Amino acid sequence: MKLTHKLGVVGHPIKYSLSPKIHRAFARQAGLEIIYDKYDIQDADLGLFIKEFFANGGTGLNITVPHKLNCIEFVDSAASEVKRLMSANTLMIKDSSIYAESTDGPGFLQDLHIKKIDITNKNILMLGAGGAAKSIVSSICLSKKPNSIFISNRTQSKVIELIKVLSRNEHVTPIDFSEYKMYEDRVKAMDIVINATSKGLDGKFSWEEEIPVDQETIFYDLSYSKGQTAFSEWASQFSNNVFDGKGMLVRQAALSFKHWFGFSPNAEEVEDLLIE
Ligand code: ATR
Repeated sequence: MKLTHKLGVVGHPIKYSLSPKIHRAFARQAGLEIIYDKYDIQDADLGLFIKEFFANGGTGLNITVPHKLNCIEFVDSAASEVKRLMSANTLMIKDSSIYAESTDGPGFLQDLHIKKIDITNKNILMLGAGGAAKSIVSSICLSKKPNSIFISNRTQSKVIELIKVLSRNEHVTPIDFSEYKMYEDRVKAMDIVINATSKGLDGKFSWEEEIPVDQETIFYDLSYSKGQTAFSEWASQFSNNVFDGKGMLVRQAALSFKHWFGFSPNAEEVEDLLIE
């Protein structure tokens, strides 16, 4: 009899997650038996949930909104990037203890590559400074390529904190978007605007600060929905270059799957399944 691997995704809310569909498709490709469930868990129950999931034979767990940052205190060890940013989206057992990885940043860069979006010398604006934003901004900075990367977030203190962490040893130092006025002569419009916030999940999207854009600006939403996301709808008034998060969702999931099983799934095939 084949061994059945227990996997899952934990978040709140989690009802609309496409992760089970994606990982079941990966498992079919790999010829593995898996059970992949969604777990709606509140902050206060997260620690106990993670411990019990792995104590009861769990192989791998994905972490999503709002737990990417809080999950760190419940793991035993982590990849160096996770320790630095204190954010993770993939948990597993390594050397008999709970180990954390982050695949958001690498998954995002892979999806840009697939979409032929080049960040070389581009001016980028990240909306949000939570778990996903941290991982993505760090990957962009490490890639050495952009001209500038600005960060804007509802809670300003998190922007300052993130810039402090990233400016230690990154090639490009992010800039606090509230200081944009100092750069507006050099940066007339953002080339890429990324939405890594959960604003808009419950309806309409808008942003407090005015964002300098033009018709060429690329808008990239990390969220996804069956139809257009609220951010995509908002962005469509400025430009036709608007993408939602399905591509990145599948790429980061494929990297999680590889961490768990050492198997690289065909992500493209699975992305097509989501679009159908
Ligand atoms: P994830 O794991 O997906 O990154 P997260 O760490 O909970 O989720 O981050 C959520 C992001 O969405 C944060 O940047 C958050 O802003 P705050 O740092 O101010 O909390 C942002 N966010 C959530 N709801 C928002 C809203 N209504 N308006 C603006 N930003 C919002």
